[in-house]
Amino acid sequence: PKKTKLLYEGKAKKIWETEDPDLLISEFKDSLTAFNGEKKSEEAGKGALNNKISAELFEYLNEKGIPTHFVKLLDDTHMLHKRAEVIKIEVIVRNIAAGSLSRNLGIPEGTELPFTLVEFDYKNDELGDPKLNDQHCLILNLVREPAELDYIRYMARKINRFLQEFYRELDLKLVDFKLEFGRDKNDNIILIDELSPDNFRLWDAQTNEKMDKDRFRQGLGGLAEAYAEVLNRIKNR
Ligand code: C5P
Repeated sequence: PKKTKLLYEGKAKKIWETEDPDLLISEFKDSLTAFNGEKKSEEAGKGALNNKISAELFEYLNEKGIPTHFVKLLDDTHMLHKRAEVIKIEVIVRNIAAGSLSRNLGIPEGTELPFTLVEFDYKNDELGDPKLNDQHCLILNLVREPAELDYIRYMARKINRFLQEFYRELDLKLVDFKLEFGRDKNDNIILIDELSPDNFRLWDAQTNEKMDKDRFRQGLGGLAEAYAEVLNRIKNR
């Protein structure tokens, strides 16, 4: 498959159409953004690291029976995947308090949550991705019926269990992450987007060192080195 027309350019990826109407190519960029695009930078090699980490995680979840858009890794920065209609909900899954949960509710960073929290944010940059409840999702027609929200929550928790198991073996703690879902051509809800340290908080299990985009958000430096270490642990699994 070859890139034909640019379909969409986002903050971290370009999405290309191919000769096959059902298949798209994601091109992972080196650009980094945080705080809804207010903080910007470039990090050489980040796109390739995210592409490869995502491919490994999609393959793992596919093996576990999770339906995803992933087809195959094409090269360092390109991934082939199914076309899907994006459901404009950012599904946030949290095991340990950090980030906006700590800020908004005053739960100290690092507090283990009594159960896995699944939250929905509206995927809308202009509005700054506000929090949604189920009624908001229905009023905005983001899904067709309430049962779809329950299905998305069910899948998010199941994916969390598989990923927690995966990262535990790598001596990493899965603090929280964001998932996106879409509808494929058969109207099935599938996991889409990417699975990378841009969208996951991962802490070293021994030292609690941050191995994710918080290195950029918090100006800690060493982002590419941390992502490379995550990929290295995955490869040596
Ligand atoms: O910022 P917050 O604490 O709400 O983020 C929770 C998790 O979701 C983090 O792992 C973050 O990387 C991810 N996230 C994301 N894209 C967003 C918002 C959050 O990947 N637009």
